[in-house]
Amino acid sequence: MATYIVLLGMPGAGKGTQAAIISKDLGLPHITSGGMFRELAGQDTELARRVREIMRRGDLVPDDLTVQIVRERLERPDAAGGAILDGFPRTVPQAEALDALLAENGHSVTVVPFFKLSKEEALARLGGRWICSKDPNHMYHTRFNPPKVPGVCDIDGAPLYQREDDTPEAHKQRIEVYMERTAPLIEYYRDRGLLVEINAEQPIEAVTAELMAAIKERIVENGHSD
Ligand code: AP5
Repeated sequence: MATYIVLLGMPGAGKGTQAAIISKDLGLPHITSGGMFRELAGQDTELARRVREIMRRGDLVPDDLTVQIVRERLERPDAAGGAILDGFPRTVPQAEALDALLAENGHSVTVVPFFKLSKEEALARLGGRWICSKDPNHMYHTRFNPPKVPGVCDIDGAPLYQREDDTPEAHKQRIEVYMERTAPLIEYYRDRGLLVEINAEQPIEAVTAELMAAIKERIVENGHSD
């Protein structure tokens, strides 16, 4: 049985940081809708320009385009055994679409770790985030997880950059959009018995330990293979 893990939490909760870590441990691909949209936004097309503008404002890309992009990604061979979904679904229609597309192959969502943290902490994390220009999975924070040499990735020596939507205006908008459009998914998944709360206020290693324990427990309970 394939394993589908949906990471839920507000912008800055640490979804991307944790997905990169547990993806290696679990042998499942890290599928990030935000990452896929950043790649798309870098192209020279009208669609790319539209997506880039939406992201820069901190709004959501329309559901139909988002579902199409994730569907295509889930159909790739490396996702045959499941995936870690980071940033998708983000609206109730996206969650319903995910349920329907997994059901086409007799699959379902395995577990939804919900990263709980305060808005203040989320804003502090978003404000200091720096990302490796060679591999976006290498992520740093000026205060909480600084690189050894400022502005340089510890792992591959590439320059670090800040995302275009890491501005105070976009942070405010992204958190408002999260509260209005994504927070309803907490109840959506709680009602289905899939939600597991994770204390995301802890240091990165402690969050990983709590997250891995919760995922493994659920995989064993459900008889999913890992
Ligand atoms: P997306 O890329 O998904 O951004 P997000 O959900 O806003 O989340 P972030 O990536 O900002 O935060 P995160 O939780 O991954 O935290 P991170 O690990 O980076 O989406 C971007 C945009 O794309 C959206 O606004 C939208 O326009 C579009 N989009 C994407 N998906 C969409 C969808 N499904 N539908 C429609 N539109 C969509 O950590 C943050 C910082 O904190 C880092 O510096 C990290 O080092 C640090 N940190 C992490 N964990 C800890 C810790 N435990 N302690 C201290 N510091 C920590």
